[in-house]
Amino acid sequence: MRELKISSFENYKEVYDYSVKQPEKFWSEIAENFTWRKKWDNVVSWNFRDPEIKWFEGAKLNITENCLDRHLEHNGDTPAIMWEPNDPEEEHRVLTYRQLHDKVCQFGNVLKNNGVKKGDRVCIYLPMVPELAIAVLACARIGAVHSVIFGGFSAQSIADRINDADCSVVVTADGGFRGPKDIPLKEVIDDALVQCRSVSRVIVLTRSRTAVSMIKGRDVWWEDEIKKVETQGNPDCPPEEMDAEDVLFILYTSGSTGKPKGIVHTCGGYMVFAGYTFANVFQYQPEEIYFCTADIGWITGHTYIVYGPLSQGATTLLFEGVPTWPGPDRLWNIVDEYKVNILYTAPTAIRSLMSFGNEALQGKDLSSITKLGSVGEPINEEAWHWFNEKIGKGQAPIADTWWQTETGGVMISPIAGITPTKPGYATLPLPGIQPCLVDENGREITGNGVSGNLCIKYPWPGMLRTTYGDHERCRQTYFSAYPDMYFTGDGCLRDEDGYYKITGRVDDVLNVSGHRIGTAEVENAINMHADVVESAVVGYPHAIKGQGIYAYVILGNSTHNDKELVTKDILKTVTRLIGAIAKPDKIQFVAGLPKTRSGKIMRRILRKIAEGETGNLGDTSTLLDPAVVEEIRQGAL
Ligand code: PRX
Repeated sequence: MRELKISSFENYKEVYDYSVKQPEKFWSEIAENFTWRKKWDNVVSWNFRDPEIKWFEGAKLNITENCLDRHLEHNGDTPAIMWEPNDPEEEHRVLTYRQLHDKVCQFGNVLKNNGVKKGDRVCIYLPMVPELAIAVLACARIGAVHSVIFGGFSAQSIADRINDADCSVVVTADGGFRGPKDIPLKEVIDDALVQCRSVSRVIVLTRSRTAVSMIKGRDVWWEDEIKKVETQGNPDCPPEEMDAEDVLFILYTSGSTGKPKGIVHTCGGYMVFAGYTFANVFQYQPEEIYFCTADIGWITGHTYIVYGPLSQGATTLLFEGVPTWPGPDRLWNIVDEYKVNILYTAPTAIRSLMSFGNEALQGKDLSSITKLGSVGEPINEEAWHWFNEKIGKGQAPIADTWWQTETGGVMISPIAGITPTKPGYATLPLPGIQPCLVDENGREITGNGVSGNLCIKYPWPGMLRTTYGDHERCRQTYFSAYPDMYFTGDGCLRDEDGYYKITGRVDDVLNVSGHRIGTAEVENAINMHADVVESAVVGYPHAIKGQGIYAYVILGNSTHNDKELVTKDILKTVTRLIGAIAKPDKIQFVAGLPKTRSGKIMRRILRKIAEGETGNLGDTSTLLDPAVVEEIRQGAL
């Protein structure tokens, strides 16, 4: 068995070297730190052609035994989840490992009573309350596959995801609170389910006490179902024995084309990777209070609110609200009140908190903070320095963690307090991760002081196995651009010190406030509006969100051409079809789009105009109608 945690920068270099030379030995030694019902016959078998990737084949486990049962003997009374509600006046909750274990068992039995079996897909659409983590873990406990959907997605998006995964059960709440907003979760689910034949049961948690319609034979209350389990008198719910390669969860994410893909993660490899990366990146020490501000609806929440911290017996703080409500000092009040030691958040949040100035920090005791983390988008130097100086007081190392829904956990990041940091840099790969930069022709670019497209050339336990129901799409998207490599979709530079800096997506994926949105998805939504003939969507730099959404829209010859009204209608359409997070920030109405003779939209030009760089648009000679560009340029917003 190998000590899970890296102990010094020297040690990191040794371990990294070993992990590249002997990856199988390395990962099997790491995996020994976890609880298995049966050990593996084979550490990894893989090819990136098909692709086919299997970790810890032959092993048997249940991830909840690692996240719950194994802590009970010595740490049963340690807080597992601390919950801060949206309204600071509402009472907060603490669940110890024992209490969490019991609640997960209870809800596991509720799911079973409602017909859920191993392998069935369960859609979870809940606010950030402890029951969200409980529902996730209960699925894992009984071997059901969870598909969590972020509370900001629309009925249509939910329906698409439920149908793609063929979910039989939905777990939701009457409503939820996010900052000043009430979110009518059950109503949204009802709208979605009109299109979903596979769902036979909806379990509804009471949260907001808003009136909801309960459909006979389909909808049941969470609380009633718990009571039934209690009267059945058997609180135990033995963990289902899972194969290492059985599916643990599906999580949908956007790509350059088509509808969001269901990224599939499996039990054994994901568990090892989530636990290993959490323990190392944050150098978690017993009794530390760890606070990740993400939502469990995104991969960051899956891996670094639920599975990673709990697998390590950590105390994870769950926050229902938003960092700037009811005031700009909300996050700092939480840090102060709970004496948070590790704060993991996103550059968007940092920039938005920074914009309120330093008054919000006045009188707040942030001295408990010893480690900081950033995730989801490139962090600009100004935000990095502010985070470092004002929040970490120059004493708390910042882990700028680069990773993706597909990678399952952190890939490139400083190890807090061990790797020397550099503003804006994700620095060095974690042990076991073999990144490389490739040029347009797929040739690896070696040496330092270079940039290219970021690929990974060796598998890691937490990587995606497929895209649900469409393996070819997985191959096409990630493994076809460069032979024998996983392509991340990100551009990257490696500086003279061999440090990595992620420069952003090189495909048609936007990153708005750390949320991944496909341009094609937004275009499809805009095009559904009756007055729209065609549209093109690009990103542009946005001071807070990182990227904003800029849409160029061609309207048909409709009689009512009230642009303001159409703009509002388009925004409504996008909100209805995807969710408010995909609403364009700017809509420019145009007569035509710059297209090549073969009919392809030249996004490069549209991007430049959206960025305000209208001086040099590059070569426009291949355009079908160069005059279009001039018109667009003049009308730029
Ligand atoms: O472009 C990269 C950016 O976010 C993308 C992944 O998005 P998602 O799957 O939603 O996962 C986000 C949380 C892990 C990446 O392809 N990204 C993520 N982390 C960083 C980043 N860009 C720069 N620096 C980061 N630290």
